[in-house]
Amino acid sequence: MGDISVKVGSVNLKSPLILASGTCNFGRELAEFYDLSILGGISSKGLTIKPRAGNPGVRVAECDSGMLNSVGLQNPGVEYFIENDLDFMKNSGAAVIVNVAGHSYEDYIDMVKTLDPHKDKIDALEINLSCPNVKEGCMTIGSDPQAIKYITSELRKLTDLPLWIKLTPNVTDIKATALAAQAGGADAVVLINTLMGMRIDIRTRRPVLTNNTGGYSGPAVKPVAIRMVAECSQVLDIPIVGCGGIADYKDVLEFMIAGASAVEIGTACLVHPALPVDITADLEKYCSDNDLLLKDLTGTLQRW
Ligand SMILES: Cc1cc2nc3c(=O)[nH]c(=O)nc-3n(C[C@H](O)[C@H](O)[C@H](O)COP(=O)(O)O)c2cc1C
Repeated sequence: MGDISVKVGSVNLKSPLILASGTCNFGRELAEFYDLSILGGISSKGLTIKPRAGNPGVRVAECDSGMLNSVGLQNPGVEYFIENDLDFMKNSGAAVIVNVAGHSYEDYIDMVKTLDPHKDKIDALEINLSCPNVKEGCMTIGSDPQAIKYITSELRKLTDLPLWIKLTPNVTDIKATALAAQAGGADAVVLINTLMGMRIDIRTRRPVLTNNTGGYSGPAVKPVAIRMVAECSQVLDIPIVGCGGIADYKDVLEFMIAGASAVEIGTACLVHPALPVDITADLEKYCSDNDLLLKDLTGTLQRW
């Protein structure tokens, strides 16, 4: 079977497939469906210093070709994660990507200080500067290139772990925010988090989500994500991890041709939990049928 191993900077992955943050918890539930060691990596649920209950009320809504969520970073807190979930992730055989969220610069700094002593169990920190569902922090920092550069450079001083900066698509110029992450010392950028959206119940004329708005994900966001990966690929020197709407092996190939070194898959696995098993087999077959190494596809886009 073909070679589907890839590299994201210094991080070696046996496959380009990483489970996207917030769609797999810490992988534990999915281990019932398939052997997680086939995956390139698992990105943890977005973690914060203190546990968070998340947003109240209705937090998910189905849409055409995707879904809205306003989970609001529900998580058990980083200390609980370190004690109860980190070993599970490490033993899964997939690379351990820890997704870090916060409301202020100090939160991100405290998070990285708390996680760095456990670096032997972590392959990369994914710094979530893009959650649209909390009132402060995250996306506010992630929309401002100067703030991105500042916080990335502060975190860079605190750890040798690879820093992957996860960016929001809710900006006018994704190149500016991606370049700011690179200038701050990021090892990679992850593109994209969810697009801000809203659905309305026409009987009550109220938003379906109690948070009013939510983040849109799934197949409909894929062309937006691919455009952003292709744009950033033209200007960045650091690798890109692509994410948004991936549902089959051809989607993975599209992202890689656009410039991604690896990809994350989220919403599609909520529909078909064992989807990575099929995508892995299809990618291996594609590589062997075409006699190529998957990693050689990255950035091979032929523009008109
Ligand atoms: C229910 C849900 C929860 C999410 N939680 C997080 C999170 O905690 N941290 C984060 O960085 N992204 C989070 N995301 C965004 C996904 O990781 C991913 O970037 C986005 O959904 C696009 O990929 P997809 O279309 O394959 O789902 C969440 C997405 C969903 C659907």
